[in-house]
Amino acid sequence: MMLHVVVLAAGEGKRMRSRHPKVLQPVGGQAMLGHLLDTAQALAPDQIHVVVGQGAAAVQDQFPAFSGVWVHQRERLGTGHATLQALPGIPDEARVLVLPGDMPLVRAETLTRLVQSSADLSVLSFVADDPTGYGRVLRDADDQVSAIVEQADASPEQAQVREVNAGVMVAKGQALKDWLARLEPKNAQGEYYLTDAVALAVGRCQRVEAVIAADGQECMGANDRAGLAELERVWQWRQRHALMAAGAMLEDPATVWVKGSVEVGQDVRIGPNVTFQGQVALGDGVVVETGCVIDDCRLAADTHLAPYSVLAGVETTGACQVGPFARLRQGTVLADQVKIGNFVEVKQASLAAGAKASHLSYIGDAAIGEGVNIGAGTITCNYDGVAKHTTTIEPGAFIGSNTALVAPVTIGSDAVIGAGSVISKDAPRDQLSLTRAPQRSIEGWVRPKKTR
Ligand code: UD1
Ligand code: MG
Repeated sequence: MMLHVVVLAAGEGKRMRSRHPKVLQPVGGQAMLGHLLDTAQALAPDQIHVVVGQGAAAVQDQFPAFSGVWVHQRERLGTGHATLQALPGIPDEARVLVLPGDMPLVRAETLTRLVQSSADLSVLSFVADDPTGYGRVLRDADDQVSAIVEQADASPEQAQVREVNAGVMVAKGQALKDWLARLEPKNAQGEYYLTDAVALAVGRCQRVEAVIAADGQECMGANDRAGLAELERVWQWRQRHALMAAGAMLEDPATVWVKGSVEVGQDVRIGPNVTFQGQVALGDGVVVETGCVIDDCRLAADTHLAPYSVLAGVETTGACQVGPFARLRQGTVLADQVKIGNFVEVKQASLAAGAKASHLSYIGDAAIGEGVNIGAGTITCNYDGVAKHTTTIEPGAFIGSNTALVAPVTIGSDAVIGAGSVISKDAPRDQLSLTRAPQRSIEGWVRPKKTR
């Protein structure tokens, strides 16, 4: 069986009140269209056609790797008209799956069931607590589907129906071509409705079925901000359940946010108000305490993040201690038993096993050796206003507090830097280097006194 998928993504999304096309609105940190393309891809179709119109360039730009066909709908004349634009590129004998671009939560398994249906026309429906905004699925006395009526066109009795159209349709290319060529925009919105194909097929005694989804939540579409927030809620709960199923302990699941993907080992513990972004992998026994934000990181087993640490583009290769209130940026690599304490910022730097920066430091563009101790207030002066330079600290060195390391500079192994130094030349190994001004005490000095 040949399968073609058509994703409808040309709508303006007026109800979103946004400068961006509706299908680019994010759910779980990914554009709605991105979710649908992933799901469509999972069906291994022969071709995916995405119908674009409003903001087409922005939509196309966001998916540079998309290998299907972009189809242009020049005017927004409705979902039937949008689907029609893709049909010339679809063989008559192919099965065609039509997906609206604003229902990102639908699962591949659900679509597979629909695609495998033997009916001439299959639609996916669900029973909504509140059917507002959806097309109502009308059934005759024998419970057979007779039509889908849009909310704007529904009589008060029809509006009471709670079985609604998810917007997904499956039929053969030839049949769709026949039906859609006959659509007329005779309705409240003056549009060519894809959903009118149902009544047309029924009128020709073709077999139409509505498959009721077991989980209505995956069928929800988002037309406005409230709808988008509702999808986000469902998506977040899916992620939280998946994390718990994989062995993570979520202390307050409702406050953990996943805007991307998270892989976890066993016995990972995640505190309240933690946000994950991008691709995150947490090894066995990792602890992420309250308020951390973790973006595109790989954390090795038993890494411990104390509260309110913010990490982006970080890798730990052993059990490290980070935070509270640490900021680790792109290119930070921490080995086993590294300790990064409060108010320490690290960027594009590696710290070898057992290195410590426990308080108030900036470490940028640096290679820090094993067992190095970086005192409070140490700054790598990595930028001269034009270019970035590297600081190298060899194993076992001790950097006294409040030291400025003016890069490029190397501190030799087991060297000691006196507190308060400005180090702009390489410091030899095993020696004490310091640039501190000698201390003086002024004899006979009189402390000023306040006069009345
Ligand atoms: C549509 C269905 C409704 C269903 C609901 C499910 C129709 C007529 N109505 O209503 O029965 O319950 O989805 O969420 O099909 N689009 C285009 N070109 C257009 C118009 C729309 O590409 O000219 C795209 C939109 O970008 C969107 C999708 O088609 O991704 C659905 O359009 P939308 O306006 O959201 O339809 P609904 O009013 O939600
Ligand atoms: Mg919609």
